[in-house]
Amino acid sequence: MNKMVKILALSCAMFASVGSAYAAEKLGYLVKQPEEPWFQTEWAFAEKAGKDMGFEVIKIAVPDGEKTLNAIDTLAAGGAKGFVICTPDPKLGPAIMAKANSLGLKVVTVDDQFVNAKGAPMTDVPLLMMAATKMGERQGQELYKEMKKRNWNVKDTGVLAITANELDTARRRTDGSMSALKAAGFPAGQIYTVPTKTNDIPGALDAANSMLVQHPNVKNWLVIGMNDNTVLGGVRATEGQGFKAANVIGVGINGVDAKNELSKSSATGFYGSLLPAPDVHGYQSIKMLHEWVANNKAPAKFTEVTDAVLITRDNYKDELKKKGL
Ligand code: GLA
Repeated sequence: MNKMVKILALSCAMFASVGSAYAAEKLGYLVKQPEEPWFQTEWAFAEKAGKDMGFEVIKIAVPDGEKTLNAIDTLAAGGAKGFVICTPDPKLGPAIMAKANSLGLKVVTVDDQFVNAKGAPMTDVPLLMMAATKMGERQGQELYKEMKKRNWNVKDTGVLAITANELDTARRRTDGSMSALKAAGFPAGQIYTVPTKTNDIPGALDAANSMLVQHPNVKNWLVIGMNDNTVLGGVRATEGQGFKAANVIGVGINGVDAKNELSKSSATGFYGSLLPAPDVHGYQSIKMLHEWVANNKAPAKFTEVTDAVLITRDNYKDELKKKGL
């Protein structure tokens, strides 16, 4: 090869690599509640996966159905090949899949499972989620353990269980929590459930307030909810009604959403939180999608993430740091 041809070949190769950088794989990551550190953590680790594996992550907040369907159009128009989604409403599943299929986008669900028109889980769509029942059981066990440690009289103790039963993962967590408490010997008749209208602190606070006033004789409260914000709303309600931190035990789920609360200068009724693996959820879900898009390797229909650690005021810094959070 003469020098000229060599230079030509080299510049062609350079051009090709620039060209392929331009055509980098694009994948969406759509979440229902971007204000929750849980979802910010998923986003951050999805982006880490993108850096490690060479694809671009397009993060879009989808708080409702309209924004979700628009986001899918935006992704397709921008050349994305698929997306990971935690849907704002499981019932949107059929509409999301119809749109994604019509635009040729692959879909992986994270955290919350789609349901079809009949309310049955759409088991055909790949899903990565936490082990909801086990997580709930752990919440119940930790509450019971801490109640024993404080030597509370069970007779004077009530369970405030804030539910969100239309979301399957939430129902399984709170059901698990209540059954673990009963299994440990807590009287079923002292467990009071109340549904929250919205899965945030204000919604849970309202729900809890309406329940607390109905039980003026309860001296100590154990607070159950599907995630940190629900439990935080419950704890705020107990404070509003004059309960001291020493008479309230709340154990949340998510961990990352409890960081501010656990770092307060004095203890509150929010005792601790189960920290599962938002880092794994974010990284793995988009990795599965990437392998599907890039290598045609279809993901498993169901992936369950099981590990969780209880973080309290004593260990939260270390435990979060261990996970790079
Ligand atoms: C649901 C909850 C979130 C978080 C995830 C974890 O989506 O709304 O707060 O707990 O599950 O899977």
